[in-house]
Amino acid sequence: MTNLILPGLVDVHTHLRVPGGEHKEDFTTGTAAALAGGFTTILAMPNTTPPLATVQVLEETRQHAQTAIYCDVGLFAGASAAHLDQLPYLATYAVGLKIYLNDTFGLLRVDQLATLQACFERWPRDKMIALHAEGQSIAVGIGLAAAYQRPVHFCHVSRQEEIELIAMAKRQGLPITCEVTPHHLFLTTADAERLGSLGDMRPKLASPADVEALWAHLNTTIDCIATDHAPHTLAEKQSANPPPGVPGLETSLPLMLTAVKEKRLTLDRLIELMATNPRRIYQLPAQPDTHIEIDTAATYTITNNLYTKCGWTPFAGMTVSGQVKRVVLRGIVLFEDGQILAQPRLIKCGEQTSPTSLKEAPAVMGEGEKRILAL
Ligand code: DOR
Ligand code: ZN
Ligand code: ZN
Repeated sequence: MTNLILPGLVDVHTHLRVPGGEHKEDFTTGTAAALAGGFTTILAMPNTTPPLATVQVLEETRQHAQTAIYCDVGLFAGASAAHLDQLPYLATYAVGLKIYLNDTFGLLRVDQLATLQACFERWPRDKMIALHAEGQSIAVGIGLAAAYQRPVHFCHVSRQEEIELIAMAKRQGLPITCEVTPHHLFLTTADAERLGSLGDMRPKLASPADVEALWAHLNTTIDCIATDHAPHTLAEKQSANPPPGVPGLETSLPLMLTAVKEKRLTLDRLIELMATNPRRIYQLPAQPDTHIEIDTAATYTITNNLYTKCGWTPFAGMTVSGQVKRVVLRGIVLFEDGQILAQPRLIKCGEQTSPTSLKEAPAVMGEGEKRILAL
């Protein structure tokens, strides 16, 4: 029975694999997984094949998304040295610019200072720059935020020294924000050993001390929980050369609700981390008449029976409390009792990126929209 109503959640870090990786995930399966996990807005990463690094690819992908999504989707543009001239045009279609400072899945990677400088000079100041930055790359990102005096968002922070450096930089007043993933909050190197390639992602799982440090910063330094939903097929993960990445859209909210039950964070903080802050950081417009309904008493074991096309999760076998019963987006029930109700169709994609709607977007959700109903 539903006993909790929350705002539609926002995932600022999802890999939807379109174009080029549709056998792992596509717009329809990825946004179905989003709804099943309580997300009504997701922001898709650009490390596709080809990457979302040219106006042509980004625009074609956006057109395609409009015919195939169940929830709101924003697309990131990817930074690459070969297409710097296109950055101002890419900005018209993208919710933000993603810059990869370290090696991970896909070919997008920026390792020249001159390329970074061009990105920071040409990308519009009112749109976010998100960094895949591990280890000392965090210091590079902090330096750029300071030098250019513009907002920078750090993806999937996972190590104690990283979060502590970010905390210091925030205390100095730098305009930086950061996210952590549930897999970095709930799994450690011991799980990586147990799971083998199914527990491998970038950044890799960390030590118990690192995990403890992330939890210690959850009420202060950390701005959002992001899934880094990175599906790969089981066959790929079990191959001789497994790609890094794990799915997360359908497991993130139950894991975080379980942590609320265990009093590791408050429900109000969960709402900030998974809805209010993500929306504010990326200046996403409010979704009127939108909420999710949850049965917090439902305790169940996570299985591989999921909407994501990859069909597995590193959390299989874990017991969690809190099940999404219903998702209502702009007044329409899209998900109920485990079923997707609507056909794929144009819901909304792209409008949120136009300069006018960005200006009109409220900074935070209205009090009424994030009200919790305890029955
Ligand atoms: O583990 C990861 N997988 N980390 C990333 O940064 C990329 C992602 C992917 O696209 O598979
Ligand atoms: Zn990344
Ligand atoms: Zn990612």
